[in-house]
Amino acid sequence: MTRPALSLLDRPTGYGRVSRMLHALVATLVLWQFAMVLAYRALGEHNATLNAIYGFASHGPVGLGVFLLMLARIPWALSNARRRPPYDAGVLGRIARASHALMYALLFAVPGLALARVYAKGEGWVVYGLSVVPVAEAPIPAVKTVVDALHGPLSWTLLALISAHVGAVLLHGVVWRDGMVSRMFGRPRAAVG
Ligand code: HEM
Ligand code: HEM
Repeated sequence: MTRPALSLLDRPTGYGRVSRMLHALVATLVLWQFAMVLAYRALGEHNATLNAIYGFASHGPVGLGVFLLMLARIPWALSNARRRPPYDAGVLGRIARASHALMYALLFAVPGLALARVYAKGEGWVVYGLSVVPVAEAPIPAVKTVVDALHGPLSWTLLALISAHVGAVLLHGVVWRDGMVSRMFGRPRAAVG
């Protein structure tokens, strides 16, 4: 069977280089966020090793990175929609489509709302010398209250979806061995049933 070469744009046989890079970068940053939050819960806030690692890439700037990457990934996905590998017509295909869409929404909303909370606090935010969030004229406590209530639950919902996503990928790759994984990793196969 001939295997098509990897292109920049997506193709029905597999995601292209740009989609793969965006997928890998966002996945790495998001998994880092959860790993750090869970590590702090397990080891406590005063663990010196953890604080040293955290200083290297802390929660706010990493979350900002996810938000900026999603600003590129959403239009990229929309503009490639017709070229992308098709979803299965059955119920599993509909679940996959819905869960991918929900992950996109949460990957945008979780850091986006957190940035709105930073603005609502009114103090502005400077990251690596760049003013990312301007100082508000006055604090907006209602926004802060709403985001405080939503940030954790939305994040854990995202983690649950990611876990199901990785579970589905393992099913395809290890049990069904239907070539689906090669749409995102390695050389794509000609078609997936
Ligand atoms: C934070 C973690 C992750 C998120 C948010 C995520 C999200 C997504 C999304 C939204 C898609 C749809 C294609 C796109 O728009 O890019 C996708 C596809 C895919 N992901 Fe992930 N992913 C994550 C981690 C992983 C990991 C760890 C693996 C490997 C074990 C993986 C394997 C795949 C594969 C094989 C596809 C292609 C699915 C298909 O063609 O229907 N993902 N992922
Ligand atoms: C994809 C990006 C992000 C993810 C996945 C994420 C995830 C999380 C998680 C899981 C928690 C712990 C919640 C709990 O204890 O139940 C948390 C807390 C927190 N996050 Fe994020 N976050 C992201 C982006 C951001 C950004 C951009 C900011 C600020 C600029 C931020 C600010 C905070 C703050 C202040 C807390 C502690 C207060 C709280 O527990 O609500 N996060 N985040």
